[in-house]
Amino acid sequence: MKRIAVLGSTGSIGTNCLQVLDALPERLSLLGITAHRRWRELAEQTQSFHPRWAVVTDESLSHGVDRAAFSSKSELLFGESGTERLCSAPEVDVVVSAIVGAAGLRGTWIALECGKTVAIANKETLVVAGPLVMELAKRTNATLLPVDSEHSAIFQALQAGRANEVKRIVLTSSGGPFRGRTLLQLQDVTPSEALAHPTWNMGPKITIDSATMMNKALEVIEAKWLFGLRDDQIEVVVHPQSVVHSFVEFVDGSVIAQLSPPDMRLPIQYALTYPDRCESIAAKLDWQKTFDLHFEPPDLDAFPALRLGFEVASRGGTCGAVLNAANEAAVERFLAGSLRFCDIPRACRAVLDQHQFDASPSLSELLRLDREARQEIARWT
Ligand SMILES: NC(=O)c1ccc[n+]([C@@H]2O[C@H](COP(=O)([O-])OP(=O)(O)OC[C@H]3O[C@@H](n4cnc5c(N)ncnc54)[C@H](OP(=O)(O)O)[C@@H]3O)[C@@H](O)[C@H]2O)c1
Repeated sequence: MKRIAVLGSTGSIGTNCLQVLDALPERLSLLGITAHRRWRELAEQTQSFHPRWAVVTDESLSHGVDRAAFSSKSELLFGESGTERLCSAPEVDVVVSAIVGAAGLRGTWIALECGKTVAIANKETLVVAGPLVMELAKRTNATLLPVDSEHSAIFQALQAGRANEVKRIVLTSSGGPFRGRTLLQLQDVTPSEALAHPTWNMGPKITIDSATMMNKALEVIEAKWLFGLRDDQIEVVVHPQSVVHSFVEFVDGSVIAQLSPPDMRLPIQYALTYPDRCESIAAKLDWQKTFDLHFEPPDLDAFPALRLGFEVASRGGTCGAVLNAANEAAVERFLAGSLRFCDIPRACRAVLDQHQFDASPSLSELLRLDREARQEIARWT
């Protein structure tokens, strides 16, 4: 029995994760959950699962929350100290890092400091501080298991050979809702058009990132640190069906891929039951139906965010933290209607180019640059 804490349990990954836990009660038990502001949804989750702890991370809500709505078996905690308690509790075996944005870094860091297994969906943590996070995991003997479908696919495919036999990894991208459009055709895209993803149902921030292809840029950086790859070992290909979740090419030319319908419950379950595989509630491929698998190269002129991803992965240092914060702030402005779609990568490029680069920053320096980049984006016109 693995005892699980889910950070961000009210989100898209979080709710899928609870479905997986619900389906595997003999293997997985839920010890703690967190939400930021949606405390009613969190309270409902305590009524279904009765976890030992429930945390509302936005401390300003501590007086507005109706404690009676929560299970009497769940202790209600507030603020980041609540998350810290959960992530460091000796009773917790696996922490699912499913908070959106750089806000997910703190809980992930504490869980790794405590030597726990972290199932990581929160790619921003690795984008902001990949080398420091990997170093920490090594020092404490903690384990990082990917939840992102592409990285789960790579993790699974890598098991077919040795590290020195890997030629390259290829991350697949659905291409998002605007695949095939030119930069000019993307000028007047609205938030509601950008939020209509063709194959995945996800939270708003990652959905906008998929539309700009910044999501793939972040995944390139995530893959570099997670798997310890050279720049020339990472490629991206557009695959609109989202069935081949990514693949590894070995030196002999063999390509090992992982396929399944687009359903996050599968990579979540694999990270939670690893190294075991077991029956899953995730959708299955039907081999008696005709279907096509299409691949095409990405259009870096229409989606310049992807170029930024390769550049930032290559430069490392402070670049990941700056790009990530600039993008988070730019996406917020786009959703609020004060920034155009095409200006998201432009604003990120401007903030990245003007920041003071440091090749081996400390965590506190990265957090300071994160704040500064957000301020720059707020001013950007
Ligand atoms: N969705 C997917 O299919 C998918 C796939 C691969 C990777 N990922 C990655 O997984 C992470 C989560 O994505 P998502 O789509 O599940 O996001 P989401 O639906 O927006 O959920 C985000 C979760 O984080 C919580 N949260 C938001 N801001 C917070 C803050 N400042 N402090 C603490 N908690 C906060 C939210 O709480 P409230 O509900 O109270 O706001 C919610 O529980 C992202 O890093 C994303 O890139 C997602």
